[in-house]
This record gives sequence, structure tokens and C-alpha cells, in this order.
Amino acid sequence: MLIVGGGGREHALAWKLAQSPSCEALFAAPGNAGTAQLGQNLDVRDTDIDGICQAAERERIDLVVVGPEAPLAAGLVDALGERGIAAFGPSRAAARLESSKWFAKSIMQRAGVAHARGELFESPAPAHKWLEMLGPDDLPVLKADGLAAGKGVIVPDHIDDAHAAVDDLFGGRYGSAGERVVIEDRLAGMEASAMAIVSGADVLPLPLSCDYKRIMNGDQGPNTGGMGVYAPPGFVPPDTDVFESIHGRVLRQMADDGCEFRGVLYAGLMVDDGAANVLEFNVRFGDPETQALMPLIEGDLLPVLAASARGEPLPSDAIVNSGRATVSVAVVSGGYPGSYETGHVIDGLDAVDTDVTVFHAGTALDDDGRVVTAGGRVLAVTAVADTLEAARGIAYDNVRRISFEDSFFRTDIALREVTR
Ligand code: AMP
Ligand code: GLY
Repeated sequence: MLIVGGGGREHALAWKLAQSPSCEALFAAPGNAGTAQLGQNLDVRDTDIDGICQAAERERIDLVVVGPEAPLAAGLVDALGERGIAAFGPSRAAARLESSKWFAKSIMQRAGVAHARGELFESPAPAHKWLEMLGPDDLPVLKADGLAAGKGVIVPDHIDDAHAAVDDLFGGRYGSAGERVVIEDRLAGMEASAMAIVSGADVLPLPLSCDYKRIMNGDQGPNTGGMGVYAPPGFVPPDTDVFESIHGRVLRQMADDGCEFRGVLYAGLMVDDGAANVLEFNVRFGDPETQALMPLIEGDLLPVLAASARGEPLPSDAIVNSGRATVSVAVVSGGYPGSYETGHVIDGLDAVDTDVTVFHAGTALDDDGRVVTAGGRVLAVTAVADTLEAARGIAYDNVRRISFEDSFFRTDIALREVTR
């Protein structure tokens, strides 16, 4: 098996899949110091489509699991399929649910899925004009239509900032992702991530979870790739039907349009009073949600991903939600998401409890074989317990045993659930 990507999500997938009795050899491209402990890292970038295809042929890989969105949007699954190699993830055409926000909206519109309503703009003047028509208390959300590495969304605090965002987006700040701009209604509520493994019309829900995007406690400061996650969210009714009312409807609409979906369909939800609206779709496992969920799920994930990759019915009893609670805390380099140093030795990795899992994101091995920092987000420390309060206590107790120069973590992951 080959896992494409080199972040915390990919280490978490490698950790789970390596436990499968059917996992013979495990490769990661490019991987990190965590995946290197479980298999072999290949020196190929995740967006190097030819390089991945060649490596998969050379190593006689029977299943490729694609982590990040960029290779999916660039057609990696299609390219592997042309060579007869099964790959878990959507085709390039189906990946438009993430790579074009407007495509996703038009599918939701036709499928009757509750979502943030919006308009598409292809030049600045009509967008400015549209903003001028808004009421004094109406603030919208502005999004680059294309992939912008998680940075193309602007939630302005003042209408002047919305106008400035229009100029930024069309001014090329987000490259070709900003050639088209979506302006949509701003929704209030609490956010949750609803991921499901999909094979055509078959949907296998994963536990709902919540990630923390801002760098500082209390959701202050700039957005990051994710500072921590917990599950389950107490504000979503346990009997929620989002997987039918959102995933099921979208998948049927995609199939009707001749664009069958395989892989992970991840709906980013805004939940208000138990009712969910979709903010966005991702077509892959969430990062850092995967680092929180893999230790929560019991059973063998590999046959599920293999069935999805082949478009076969999913073995729905292969994995089950243990029903416990999980808290995962990201440890990042000081300065992140701005500039930060790398190459600092990480101490204390062997001091964590045996039932706590430390997933690597930006890590590498130095010439002496020591684990050193190599990115902004460095580690995710995940604890599973019977209650969120217990999982949170164990996670933070263990986070404090790990250290490197200038390390930083939020101290309020899951706090809102245990103080309610
Ligand atoms: P996205 O990349 O679409 O998930 O957007 C990043 C973040 O922007 C989300 O996690 C939300 O916090 C916020 N956001 C996006 N769309 C909306 C919306 N329509 N209303 C309110 N907040 C939003
Ligand atoms: N955690 C948000 C994402 O994976 O896009």
C-alpha cells in the first residue's frame, strides 16, 4: 500500500492501516518521521503525478490512498486508474466538490441540501456592486472559487474589509484560485466535520468531530491548518441524519450527473439549534480530524478503503465507532502560522503513555536519527477515553511531557464541552 502525503493525517492513516492483517508493505510519499517508523518513505512530492504513478508501478502497489486535495484535483486517481492501479479517492471530475466552491453550491442547490447561499462573480465591479446592496448589518463571506491551500476564505468584520477582499481575491493574491469569487451568506452557529467513506451510493459515516482552526485560545488570531480536534460534538443530536440529508443527496445528484463519487466526502457544517447547513465540502480525510478519529474507530479500515477504490459495496461492519470520546492536541512551532524555525530536536516522545498516540506532521529524522521539527504543525497528541473530560485530561497530561524549542499548543481544546 502507498499513502500519498506527508502530514499528520497521513501518519494517522498509516498507523491505522498498518494494523490491518492484509497490509503487507507500507510506503508513504513523501511521508514524515512518523510514517518512516511504520514503513518506507519514498522521496516523491504528493503533487508529482508521474512520480507517484512510477513509484506505484515500481513497488507493485495494489492500493494507493491519497491524503491531500491537491493531487486529487490534479487527477492522480485517474492517472493511477489508467495504469490499472486501484486508488482511494475521487476522480478529478468528482474532486470538483472541493476544488470549485461554485460547483459544490450548484450541486447542493439541485440536490436540495441546506447550505450557505451565494453568488458567483467573475470580475470585481459586479462584486463591489453586490456588496453595496447589502443591508448595514449584513456581512457576507468571500471565497476564492478554486483551491487556495485553506487560505482563500475571508470572513470580514466590516463592509470595507469585504470590498478590500474582493480586490485581493481578483488581484491574484490566491493565484488562479481567485479568478472566480463566491460571495455567500454568513451563517452563525457551531462548526462540525461530517466525514463519510463513500463508494457510489454506499455511505459509511465516520464519527462527527470538531476542529479548532485559530492559533490562540478562545478562537483568536489567524487561521491555521488545525490546532486540535475532539469528538463527539455535544451540540449535534446523536441521531442526526446529515449523512442522508447531505451526503446521500449529493451523491445521488453526482451519480445522476454521470460523476460517481468514491473516497471520503467531508461536509463542513455550521450547526445552529441542531440544524446543519453546509459551508464547504472536502473530498478527502480531514486534517487534523483524522488524527483524532483513527484511534476512536475499531476494526479493519483497509478493506473499506479497498472496496471504495474499486467502486464495490462497502463492508459496512468492518469498522465501528467505539462510542468513546477523543481529544487531539496539535503541538506547533513557535511563530506558526507565520514564519518559524525548523530542525529543533523533539524530546519526550517516549515518555507518553502507551495508550496515547502521537502522530507526526512536520517532523524529520536528522543525520543522527533524532526526530526533529520540520514544519509548522509538528505533532498531534491523541487520547481516547470514556468521556471527553477524561480524554482531555490525558491528552494534556501527555502533551506536557513532550518538548522542543519554542513549541506551542492551545490549552482549550474541547474545553467548551466539559464546562457546559
Ligand atoms: P472553509 O474553508 O470554507 O471551511 O472556510 C473556512 C472557515 O471560514 C470555516 O471553517 C468557517 O469558520 C468560516 N466560514 C466559511 N463559510 C462561512 C459562512 N458561510 N458563514 C460563516 N462562516 C463561514
Ligand atoms: N480540518 C479541515 C480540513 O481538513 O480541511
